[in-house]
Amino acid sequence: MERLVVMPDVSRFFKPYVREVEAYNPTGILRVLYKDRSDFARMMGNESPFPPSPKVREAMNVTFPQFGWYPDSSYFELREALSTYTGLPTSNIIVANGSTELIDLISRAFIETGDESILSIPTYTVYRMRLRVAGSNILEIPKLKPDFKYDVNTILRKVSPKAKIIVVTRPDNPIGNVIPEDDLKRILDSGVIVMVDEAYYEFCGQGAAHLIEKYENLICLRTLSKAFSLAGLRIGYALSNIKVIKYLERARPAFTVSLLAEKVAVAAMKDMEYARGNARKIIEGRDYLFKELSKIRGLKPYPSEANFILVKIENSRLPVGKIEMGLMKSGILVRNYTDAKGLQGEYIRITVSTKEDNIRCIKALHELLES
Ligand SMILES: Cc1ncc(COP(=O)(O)O)c(C=O)c1O
Repeated sequence: MERLVVMPDVSRFFKPYVREVEAYNPTGILRVLYKDRSDFARMMGNESPFPPSPKVREAMNVTFPQFGWYPDSSYFELREALSTYTGLPTSNIIVANGSTELIDLISRAFIETGDESILSIPTYTVYRMRLRVAGSNILEIPKLKPDFKYDVNTILRKVSPKAKIIVVTRPDNPIGNVIPEDDLKRILDSGVIVMVDEAYYEFCGQGAAHLIEKYENLICLRTLSKAFSLAGLRIGYALSNIKVIKYLERARPAFTVSLLAEKVAVAAMKDMEYARGNARKIIEGRDYLFKELSKIRGLKPYPSEANFILVKIENSRLPVGKIEMGLMKSGILVRNYTDAKGLQGEYIRITVSTKEDNIRCIKALHELLES
């Protein structure tokens, strides 16, 4: 007779903090439902509405015969292209599979179980997940209302000998504002590792890479997902001093960026005119959206230096879910940020898109809220 074997529940083998976090897939359903709907305005995920540079397509074709090869795991060619772009030597640059991977890599490289990391909320949820999985306790400091500035005094008060990492997003996500450089320097003066996420750098132009020489504890994260229209290819990079980069290289998985992604990224970096032109269009679109959103009764947009605008729904007879659905019926997808950690109340975040999409979005909001 067959014996019944009772297997132990495998979940008990996982670290408690792995069991505790959720998988990250914020706009997953929208992405699946509207994957092939080119008539829909994708204003929910802070992607670029523009296709990649035509040079990217050429590079894909040229690279095709090499797909059977491993990439150069030092990614020298890509780091050289990034060096030309950033003005920093290649030894100050590490590349990875999107800046999301760098958040994970930095968390794993620095955090030991029980260390502390300081986040300012609301923020990009990936930090909490990656830092927690690495074993960090998370201290969450609410940003200061009404305009959600970083509470630098409280952040500095919370720095204990257990503190390893402070996260600063500049421009911030989801607010879109930029912490002043003097405040950032005060945080850097704490001596703790400061991860400055500059995913939206190209839409504001204020970076912190010039501070790397002075501050050994500074790591700037950048990406080709936004201004370079390459979110699907997954290419990010970090800028820091040589010592930090050397250790991060030891912690980085080999061959993490595919050969295709590397070649395509190099091609995109060589067409700066295209990327700069697109960033200018996004900034124009952002100004248009902010001005028009400010005119709609019941909406409060927050000034932004990124490629999105956070909007508070105030005194509206329509709950945010209805607004979201109404926009969807008009072919516009936005991100519902209601009651996100650190935000009380109803919010949507609108990614700046093409001129036509932006106009369509404003028209739909007028119809929903003012008819
Ligand atoms: C603040 C911030 N950092 C990083 C990322 C992700 O960048 P990547 O595509 O390079 O992983 C995002 C994406 O929305 C973001 O908002």
